[in-house]
Amino acid sequence: MENLISLVNKIQRACTALGDHGEGSALPTLWDSLPAIAVVGGQSSGKSSVLESVVGKDFLPRGSGIVTRRPLVLQLHKLEEGSREYAEFLHLPRKRFTDFAAVRKEISDETDRETGRTKQISSVPIHLSIYSPNVVNLTLIDLPGLTKVAVEGQPDSIVQDIENMVRSYIEKPNCIILAISPANQDLATSDAIKISREVDPTGERTFGVLTKIDLMDKGTDAVDILEGKAYRLKYPWIGVVNRSQADINKNVDMIAARRREREYFSSTPEYKHLAHRMGSEHLAKMMSKHLENVIKSKIPGIQSLINKTIIEIETELSRLGKPIATDAGGKLYMIMEICRLFDQNYKEHLDGVRSGGDKI
Ligand code: GDP
Ligand code: NA
Ligand code: MG
Repeated sequence: MENLISLVNKIQRACTALGDHGEGSALPTLWDSLPAIAVVGGQSSGKSSVLESVVGKDFLPRGSGIVTRRPLVLQLHKLEEGSREYAEFLHLPRKRFTDFAAVRKEISDETDRETGRTKQISSVPIHLSIYSPNVVNLTLIDLPGLTKVAVEGQPDSIVQDIENMVRSYIEKPNCIILAISPANQDLATSDAIKISREVDPTGERTFGVLTKIDLMDKGTDAVDILEGKAYRLKYPWIGVVNRSQADINKNVDMIAARRREREYFSSTPEYKHLAHRMGSEHLAKMMSKHLENVIKSKIPGIQSLINKTIIEIETELSRLGKPIATDAGGKLYMIMEICRLFDQNYKEHLDGVRSGGDKI
């Protein structure tokens, strides 16, 4: 099944690489049918911190105020144990980043290239892939934080613009929503929950993540929420403890942060009994598992779209004339190969279901 997720990742990237070429074909529909996980919430609720913990790496620009100004589509690819980890941007093909501080810099440079060095936002996504033995196969989308007021240098429309952009990602039925809410604010006012309810009223694709549990007022705790007695969602809330700003300033590394998070839940009397289903690592595993189930349930639909896509691509290829010399032809060819691989994998999966199931 890991294979299947990574094939879906490849198709997603191939669809993006094809860009305009895919317009009017089955490809955009194919893209829309593939699942991804988006992180939504108010500004400074901890979205980027949650993403970093799930990935287990420091690589996102962070800070107070509006830092994330373009959507970041992040694909994680699991490598074999012992492999060297690296990152790659779609807009810089064939350049391998092994220094994640440079990745962070490139994200902010590329944000500025599109928006200018202003506090403007853009809905044009940045695509980043991370290859590492320490990740699970996932596609994650970091989005700008929801705000209530424009700051200096921003047009008044920004509040609505951000909301519209966020909505355009999370309203797609293939989008799994990580609704990030800080535990030190009233959940009744959570922007994340409000917008998630709008686009997913039944809650079947929304996961609540409670951040900043360590920052709650003395004498209060999140036990009722985490146990599902208050603000109940379809899936249980997952509590996390990310690094504080002081930790970031002191360069507390991710491994140490995860260990401390584990210790926090297992040693705090209120949360001890919930420790096994709290924290960033648990969140990452849950997301991967959920993604698998979603993909499995979508295989038949994806399959027929792929068949349609292959036919379209073949038509397009013969129109371009073989041998394939143009870049567009090369990309089409690549996509077709990926679709074929998917096709094969899908058959194997079905065979697996058959041989494991009713033997006649
Ligand atoms: P974003 O704007 O939603 O992406 O939020 P960030 O991830 O940039 O976090 C905003 C600030 O809150 C940063 O200074 C983080 O260090 C801090 N922060 C986020 N999560 C937690 C948490 O669980 N505990 C503590 N103490 N601080 C956190
Ligand atoms: Na922020
Ligand atoms: Mg952010």
